[in-house]
Amino acid sequence: MTGRVLLTGGAGFIGSHSYVALVEAGFETIILDSFANAHRDVPERLARITGRPTPVIEADIRDSIAVQKAMDGGRFDAVVHFAALKSVPGSEADPVGYYDVNVGGLVNVVRAMQAHGISRMVFSSSAAVYGEAEVMPVTEDSPVRPQNVYARTKLVGEDFLAAVRRANPDFALGILRYFNPVGAHGSGLIGEDPGQPAGNLVPVIAQVAAGRREKLMIFGDDWPTPDGTAIRDYIHVEDLARGHVLSLERLLQPESERSHLVNLGTGRGHTVREVIDCYEKVSGQPIRAEIAPRRAGDAAISYADTGRAEQLLGFRATRDLASMCASNWAFMRAKA
Ligand SMILES: NC(=O)c1ccc[n+]([C@@H]2O[C@H](COP(=O)([O-])OP(=O)(O)OC[C@H]3O[C@@H](n4cnc5c(N)ncnc54)[C@H](O)[C@@H]3O)[C@@H](O)[C@H]2O)c1
Repeated sequence: MTGRVLLTGGAGFIGSHSYVALVEAGFETIILDSFANAHRDVPERLARITGRPTPVIEADIRDSIAVQKAMDGGRFDAVVHFAALKSVPGSEADPVGYYDVNVGGLVNVVRAMQAHGISRMVFSSSAAVYGEAEVMPVTEDSPVRPQNVYARTKLVGEDFLAAVRRANPDFALGILRYFNPVGAHGSGLIGEDPGQPAGNLVPVIAQVAAGRREKLMIFGDDWPTPDGTAIRDYIHVEDLARGHVLSLERLLQPESERSHLVNLGTGRGHTVREVIDCYEKVSGQPIRAEIAPRRAGDAAISYADTGRAEQLLGFRATRDLASMCASNWAFMRAKA
């Protein structure tokens, strides 16, 4: 399938991997990014992977005029919208900044899409919207109970887009609720930036393995799980990237019901200890971990029901935890 796609936040972790997957699938793909949380050399690295120059528009989605200009003359068929701020503690400290980018920026993008007759969007949402789900696996119909400002901005974004769709039946919308993206591209050229203050488990483990951090904290070892540590559904970022291609392809179908809201996960959970053990094995480095009290708002277990993504998009994650840890470590070493 072909088409022209604008990828906001395309220089970031998930966006850059999705760029590669979209280009490989035949889409003409243009990145829009402010580089607020991306390295300047990502476009050049992407060019090495794809073998062609990376088209980039440097713009901030908070700047309505710049977003309009980016779409002028672009003849885009769709927007894949990654650009957002994503730190949970960051969002609690700066709700104005988070709503400004994650909600205000989204409104700017959709306003510009409407002005340019672009009627298809894939939106990065998060399993964080479910909060502490009580029943496993988490289905798309599980109650949403966001536990922090970041997760609420994602849910507000979803609500806003659903309202746009109700008002404009031609607006085709793919909402993707990611579980825990991990890993890096097989080339070792792109991955999750180890230089940023890490909040997620694997980047923290990676920093300990690389000797850039002394130890990691395990929040609770008294959860009702086989080894007492919390269970999460980790998904390889290259699998996740493929999910975006499938979502976009569905939105570009001529069928009437193209919109979808799906979980993207593996449907399998791993404990924190399993992830640490796996990373120790692939890196050959000892990883020092200390037990800390449980954090408020954390759940014991969370993993996705993947049935709807498989049924609607034909999506199934294929890469396992060892491949996630090994590719992350390869990227860390290449960056060092
Ligand atoms: N990584 C995760 O664990 C995770 C989980 C669920 C959902 N998500 C969502 O997926 C999307 C991508 O996440 P990621 O992990 O790749 O994050 P990331 O920070 O690596 O990528 C976000 C990109 O958006 C850009 N950006 C930020 N503010 C911008 C602005 N005002 N204007 C233009 N560009 C801006 C950044 O420079 C960066 O390149 C986000 O919407 C995030 O909320 C991430």
